[in-house]
Amino acid sequence: MIDVLKDKRIGVIMGGLSAEKEVSMTSGGAVENALRDAGYDVLAIVFDGPSVIDAIKAAAPDVVFLALHGRYGEDGTIQGLLDIMGLPYTGTGVMGSALAMDKSVTKMLLRHEGIPTAEFVTLAPSDADDATSLVEAIGYPLVVKPATLGSTIGMSFVYKKEDLSAAIRLAFEHDREVLVERFIEGRELTVGILNGAPLPVVEIVAPGGVYDYEAKYKSHDTKYICPAEIDMEVAARLQSMAFDVFRVLKGYSMSRVDFRLDTEGNAYVLEMNTIPGLTGTSLLPKAAKAAGVEFVELVETMLIGALNRHEG
Ligand SMILES: Nc1ncnc2c1ncn2[C@@H]1O[C@H](COP(=O)(O)OP(=O)(O)O)[C@@H](O)[C@H]1O
Ligand SMILES: [Mg+2]
Repeated sequence: MIDVLKDKRIGVIMGGLSAEKEVSMTSGGAVENALRDAGYDVLAIVFDGPSVIDAIKAAAPDVVFLALHGRYGEDGTIQGLLDIMGLPYTGTGVMGSALAMDKSVTKMLLRHEGIPTAEFVTLAPSDADDATSLVEAIGYPLVVKPATLGSTIGMSFVYKKEDLSAAIRLAFEHDREVLVERFIEGRELTVGILNGAPLPVVEIVAPGGVYDYEAKYKSHDTKYICPAEIDMEVAARLQSMAFDVFRVLKGYSMSRVDFRLDTEGNAYVLEMNTIPGLTGTSLLPKAAKAAGVEFVELVETMLIGALNRHEG
């Protein structure tokens, strides 16, 4: 047990109101079990609506581990609530969480900083009718996605003009802002950041070439290769880009940056996940393990980060 944590009551908040609730319950359960097995005083707090405030008060934790994903969990809102309650919590703060949750804001900042990301346009509902002309310069195939959701919900790959408006309509059913970006043909790679240092690169090989909800959470055919079998030069470049993204988006303690690597070796940042999956088989724990950090150490490191920020 880590000294600064052994007398602390640790609350693990899981569940939430987003589509990623199930994943969050699995992440939270994994974190809770790891802490309990290590002998810590740990309590699960299930977030299923506004009553989470009472649940937090009743649990009276000294420090909170956030195992939430998506809206109200990863977007800065629960972080703001915990700030107001004066409770230290794991991971990125209000501003960084909100920036990373919005793919359109993320891409604007990356472009401003000269960090490569696929060409894109952001559409408001009033642009929906003119979409075809607005996206013309990008060229097909295109990816259409809601700006602030995860788990590929409401997302489509569009190969020809005729299918564009249906894809945009679908995305608007989930969000008030929609992103249309160039499809990057190539490989899928991800880089975790832990305590300010990049972890080994992971390659994801999904059967359909796309890492969608099915490939992420259901398929047994999706392969994860860590460390990724890529040139050292490419790995170093991805790690340094991931660190730049983490800095620009105001990440704290831990995050995971997703990339596409095209057939010519150009890397493009897709997004940053401030609370990536933390189940036994998730990408960040795999990468940490490849760097010699066991799951429980990863969890402890994040909790120490929470206490340090609170005191700092
Ligand atoms: N521009 C793109 N080019 C190629 N594949 C993409 C592109 N955008 C998304 N994808 C595929 O869709 C997956 C999910 O997209 P992403 O932007 O990371 O959103 P989510 O928040 O749903 O994970 C990616 O992991 C990738 O496989
Ligand atoms: Mg992603």
